[in-house]
Amino acid sequence: MECNANTTYVISGVAGMTGSLVARRLLDLGHRVIGFDNFFAGSRNDIALLSSSHEGFGFIEADIHDACAMDRLFADCKEKVASGRPHVFINCAAVVHTKYFYQIESTFATNVLAMRDSLDRSIAAGFSSYINCSTSEVYSMNSWEEGGVREDSPVLLATAAQSLRTSYATGKLLTEHFMLDRVERGFIKGCSIRFANVYSPTEAHDEHIIPHIISSLQKTGSVTLLEHAKETKRTFLHNSDSCDAVLALIATESALDGSIYNVGTDEEISIVGLVNKIAQLLHISDLVINFEGTRSADPRRRLLNLDRIRERTGWSPKVGLDEGLRQCIEYRTKGMQE
Ligand SMILES: NC(=O)c1ccc[n+]([C@@H]2O[C@H](COP(=O)([O-])OP(=O)(O)OC[C@H]3O[C@@H](n4cnc5c(N)ncnc54)[C@H](O)[C@@H]3O)[C@@H](O)[C@H]2O)c1
Repeated sequence: MECNANTTYVISGVAGMTGSLVARRLLDLGHRVIGFDNFFAGSRNDIALLSSSHEGFGFIEADIHDACAMDRLFADCKEKVASGRPHVFINCAAVVHTKYFYQIESTFATNVLAMRDSLDRSIAAGFSSYINCSTSEVYSMNSWEEGGVREDSPVLLATAAQSLRTSYATGKLLTEHFMLDRVERGFIKGCSIRFANVYSPTEAHDEHIIPHIISSLQKTGSVTLLEHAKETKRTFLHNSDSCDAVLALIATESALDGSIYNVGTDEEISIVGLVNKIAQLLHISDLVINFEGTRSADPRRRLLNLDRIRERTGWSPKVGLDEGLRQCIEYRTKGMQE
């Protein structure tokens, strides 16, 4: 990666799925990383591993809403920027999991207000760029079109009455506006990334579809899906590829013009097909799938067009779903044996 070796990367939500792996990748490349997290959903184990394996890693246990902690962190960064060390902010801290989307106050405070606050603090401290993690959920009801939904396609949002999940999508849409505004006003470089269904072999949350299917099948040989899963299709992006996309964007200065980038895969699969694939990898032949309950305003398909990031950075996903699922199963099987 062609990043300036002298740069310090500040990562919020560094104990989370994306933050921790982006940190590891940057550290492996010899960069310095300062990360913070309040462990709302992150892993203490990942932080212990990063701290013990990389001298260039600094960690602060802090909430992004803690003004005193942020004052100290950014004052320190400002001094380092003044002494000639460029800084980049990667904002991974967010209320992400579906079960929390319905708590509008905390979702808005963390995903929108704290994003804007850290963006403006980064500008005031003289950071060269800011990476904003948005989401493909912003496509809401229009998450699919021929050739994949594009960054500049109009979105059709479900209303609050149709789905409270829209609070997450509308908040993330707002962050894209803040990002573009600050870049257009010449304050900083940066971009917004619309990730789609990122998964990781080490993911701890069984609420996510892949860990849910694997652990249900491993425990009982059966799995319960929502009713509409019968006709739902999705793509799944390996965390390794999503982190490569972040690094590819950081390394491409011309890409940091406030643009939005879809980051996903073209490998679309039905949810029932996903269950069958996992059952096959687990050697389960008498599989049982139960369907129960529903979630309103879930799009039946979510397929992103990836031309923009491919053309601007050369990034493409590398880990196919079969290989990624094998890694997930291997990690979980090892965990069960230990
Ligand atoms: N995982 C996906 O499929 C996906 C899809 C679209 C977008 N995204 C976005 O990518 C980014 C990274 O997501 P992730 O998958 O790593 O999620 P994650 O939940 O694994 O990581 C988020 C991290 O933020 C931390 N955090 C939350 N609130 C905080 C606070 N107030 N102060 C400090 N830290 C706080 C959590 O403890 C956690 O470690 C998020 O902005 C998310 O919205 C993820």
